[in-house]
Amino acid sequence: MSAQILDGKAIAANLRKAIQQEVAIITGSGQRPPGLAVVLVGDNPASQIYVRNKQKACEEVGFLSELIRLEPGTRESDLLALIDDLNQREEIDGILVQLPLPGQIDEETVIERILPTKDVDGFHPYNVGRLALRMPLLRPCTPKGVMTMLEHTGMELAGKDAVIIGQSNIVGRPMALELLMARCTITVCHSRTKNLAGKVRAADILVSAVGRPGFVAGDWIQPGAIVIDVGINRREDGKLCGDVDFTSASKVADWITPVPGGVGPMTIATLLENTLQAAKLHNNGG
Ligand code: GUN
Repeated sequence: MSAQILDGKAIAANLRKAIQQEVAIITGSGQRPPGLAVVLVGDNPASQIYVRNKQKACEEVGFLSELIRLEPGTRESDLLALIDDLNQREEIDGILVQLPLPGQIDEETVIERILPTKDVDGFHPYNVGRLALRMPLLRPCTPKGVMTMLEHTGMELAGKDAVIIGQSNIVGRPMALELLMARCTITVCHSRTKNLAGKVRAADILVSAVGRPGFVAGDWIQPGAIVIDVGINRREDGKLCGDVDFTSASKVADWITPVPGGVGPMTIATLLENTLQAAKLHNNGG
């Protein structure tokens, strides 16, 4: 093994500690703590775990955290009314509606209803537009967390060839905008991409967000590359793994993220960062 491990668990723990200290200063001066409302519709098992982890992280750093659970059959109009209420409430700085939503609810309509300054997921078209225009406000958590990890490599990003596998609104697209803002040259690959292996072989930075174990073979990795594995997949034996074949890829890459303990903890720490940022916006009249 030659690659250095990009230890998301450790970087996230440091981020959380810094946030906790900032919250202690805020509350020590008599101000209210940042507040996050998490909305979970239905009983998707993965979503339940994600939401529990987000809530636990909020409590650890001293945020106000409110979990609102709604029935799987909830009507879209009822969810929109809840968001209107959360938009109004002064003690709530961030609103996170866990995705995916049940089929009767339109995700775009729900995301657009959240006040852009409370959109701590960074999914509202206003926030995505700002990111596209290089004037970011609240930035999607996973790509922003990846940028924090890339900073930790100490590598110069400008001019690097970055390849992203996956074009989702949550990861692939905002990841492309982040890396473009860092002055990388971007290739976004998806299910219709020709010669995927050839494109990955040219990557100085690879970000994989596919959701299929072992999808990226070790011999696709360029020697010296930085490999960021966003995939969280469960193998047949019940263990978690990423999209990239870690054992073979770590022999050729310079830096690689493990799964678990890589991007996952960074997404949650970045959500806390965004909630603190939103609280500052609201307290400064934003
Ligand atoms: N589902 C999977 N990832 C995410 C995320 O980052 N935010 C929300 N709201 N839902 C998700």
